[in-house]
Amino acid sequence: MKVIYTNEALALSLSNIKGDLGFVPTMGALHDGHISLIERSVSENKFTICSIFVNQKQFNNAEDFEKYPKTIDTDLAKLEQAKCDIVFVPTNEQIYPTNFKASYFELGNIENVLEGFYRPGHFQGVCIVVNRFLDLIKPNKLYLGRKDFQQCIVIQKMLALQKLDAKIELCIVNTKRNRYGLALSSRNLRLSEEAKRKSLILITCLENAKATLITNTTTDILKIQKESIKEIKQAGFESVDYFDFINEDFEVIKKNTESKRIIAILTAATIDAVRLIDNIEI
Ligand code: PAF
Repeated sequence: MKVIYTNEALALSLSNIKGDLGFVPTMGALHDGHISLIERSVSENKFTICSIFVNQKQFNNAEDFEKYPKTIDTDLAKLEQAKCDIVFVPTNEQIYPTNFKASYFELGNIENVLEGFYRPGHFQGVCIVVNRFLDLIKPNKLYLGRKDFQQCIVIQKMLALQKLDAKIELCIVNTKRNRYGLALSSRNLRLSEEAKRKSLILITCLENAKATLITNTTTDILKIQKESIKEIKQAGFESVDYFDFINEDFEVIKKNTESKRIIAILTAATIDAVRLIDNIEI
């Protein structure tokens, strides 16, 4: 496995590659969820490249950026074991040189709801960095985790806006969970064992809400939402930003009578001062 730190070394390494290239962008602090993306890419491509870069542009909270876990040595060991071919670990200057001009992406409504609402500018920051990596790496396939469902839809849109959708296949990999059912996330490193156990309530509420929705198509969505938020708080969460139902156009649905079908339920809630997100497909 090659570890590369500069754009020049990256270009040189990529020039020797003949065959399909799979790309897994990450911010490090790798867990089994990331590794499942690497494994999927390894199984589907001749070469796999992973980037490790904590992208300040997508953090709307300076403290969250400062606190973002950094575990580079164990990350590299895990990637080596997963048979990743190249790891790109650029500095901020490599990704955003002084002459770098960030594009603005017309993402529409998706940028204003749920994560977009609670983290203003977040998705522009994600698009800027992913687009920059795609430009440097030019992969055939791009792998993202379903845990960040809204991010997956945003990137799909960004690929279409940049006319990259025909060249780069977006592969969405299912969420990995711990033994309690908690979706794996680098932020989980900041949770106590007790908080991890309590966090099981997120997937429990999502599964119950889905079951209710499927068995009774005239269910009052606002009632499910209210009860789920109550249960999450009762389980020990400090706050719940949202527990929302969205349709194919990523609009938040308040009534089950709308013609466009509900495609997923998404939630974000804070425990131990750590903000967790999760979702379930309908
Ligand atoms: O999902 C993440 O870890 C990040 O948003 C990504 C895609 C690596 C971009 O920085």
